[in-house]
Amino acid sequence: MTQTFRTHSAEETIEVGAQLSALLPARGLVLLIGNLGAGKTTLTKGIARARGAAAEEEVSSPTFTLIHEYGEPALVYHIDLYRLDEASEVASLGLDEIMNRDALVVIEWGERFPELWPEERWEIRIEAVDEDQRVIEVRGLSKK
Ligand SMILES: Nc1ncnc2c1ncn2[C@@H]1O[C@H](COP(=O)(O)OP(=O)(O)OP(=O)(O)O)[C@@H](O)[C@H]1O
Ligand SMILES: [Mg+2]
Repeated sequence: MTQTFRTHSAEETIEVGAQLSALLPARGLVLLIGNLGAGKTTLTKGIARARGAAAEEEVSSPTFTLIHEYGEPALVYHIDLYRLDEASEVASLGLDEIMNRDALVVIEWGERFPELWPEERWEIRIEAVDEDQRVIEVRGLSKK
């Protein structure tokens, strides 16, 4: 089942993220798929806020730090694999262990390493239609 949303501002995308939070499981893997600047980090702000894990402004791009952890204990892991080139580099981050925790694991640029992920995951595709418009498609690849 695919659900589609259309947003016209970053704020609307944050709200879609907050709505999606209710649809997504407490724990599990979410791949955020979309070009540079599509709105992957923006959407994560809404997810983290709705889970009570972090305020919007506390959610920033993990481009350099690779892994951000929101909540105490962690409810949402926010990971960005943009700067990694090899699956072996990704493996060294210890994501297997993180994916076993009781938390939602949200990964930007995860589609670059398809062999690493369990079949049971969610995929959220964000496409920039123009400067401010985004189409967001959500697909659960197995039951919740
Ligand atoms: N409808 C919209 N939804 C989301 N972001 C939007 C929208 N309209 C404009 N923007 C702008 O697009 C940018 C999205 O940035 P964001 O960091 O969320 O993208 P990203 O997909 O995480 O990029 P990166 O690949 O660099 O990590 C922000 O500057 C935001 O203000
Ligand atoms: Mg980002």
